[in-house]
Amino acid sequence: MPLQNDSPVIAVVGSLNIDLIAYTERVPDAGETIIGTDFRMGFGGKGANQAVMAARLGGRVSMVGALGDDVYAGMTFDNLDRQGVDAAHVARVPGSSGVAPIWVEAGGQNRIIVVPGANDRVDPDAAADAVRSMAGVRAVIGQLEIPQRVTLAAFRAARDLGAATILNPAPAASLDPALLAVSDWLIPNETELGLIAGERIDLDDDAALLRYAGSIAPRLLVTLGERGAAVVRDDLVDRIPADRVTPVDTTGAGDAFVGAFAFGLAAGLGDVVAVRLGIASASDSVTRHGTQSSYASPDQARELLGRIAGG
Ligand code: RIB
Repeated sequence: MPLQNDSPVIAVVGSLNIDLIAYTERVPDAGETIIGTDFRMGFGGKGANQAVMAARLGGRVSMVGALGDDVYAGMTFDNLDRQGVDAAHVARVPGSSGVAPIWVEAGGQNRIIVVPGANDRVDPDAAADAVRSMAGVRAVIGQLEIPQRVTLAAFRAARDLGAATILNPAPAASLDPALLAVSDWLIPNETELGLIAGERIDLDDDAALLRYAGSIAPRLLVTLGERGAAVVRDDLVDRIPADRVTPVDTTGAGDAFVGAFAFGLAAGLGDVVAVRLGIASASDSVTRHGTQSSYASPDQARELLGRIAGG
């Protein structure tokens, strides 16, 4: 396998949630009660999901974040340990941990409400110190489920160390220009791209994508759901398709993409192979239920990595 380093070091600065997933044929109208078909509690949070995906592929991953002083915190620390994700930089703060009630309809589409709890209380200085303490860190990933000033501090520290900074602006929110300025990669989906750009951008319109990409510092990589992803280069848009799969639950697929892409980049696979790895990991995840529980096992991830990167 053409990896430059067997275990690239990756830091994820972001959220940890407990996902409370209700499966239903259809979502209820206002004031309506309906009977669901299934329920699962699982480990989630965009940050933690991305960390777990990168670790399943073989990354040495550290999580930087915060949990509360409730029962969910202990469960989450145990989960990080099982997943092989270093939690030395996950703080415990008073109050509740992050939770995410999620509805998944037949066909796999989801609706998510994130209640951040402890995620709102990650300390910027502690996050920057955590990144600085990671010898050989190659990539630092951030999302928008913790305050942007925390990610900004961590990305500045990452830049000083020469690590790649990867911003997944999810859930959609307007971005601090300072954070955009220290991001090497920006990975939005269609909705997030529209909000950040301040206008809807037609994803089939190469000229519009090139125009927007030319106006920002980071490289633009747009996820297109079942259509794969588009890497916007200086003068062309490179569209990389996804294999057709039958989705049962799309929750966390975007995070599988980002975690796998970051792993690929940190492992020196090159951006196109890293994007292919992201797409394959996301497509694989939608064929199983849950969030982290839907991700390829370490054995399956090794097989997937060999298929994509093994040549
Ligand atoms: O992207 C899916 C994730 O969004 C879930 O795990 C949920 O916790 C929210 O963070």
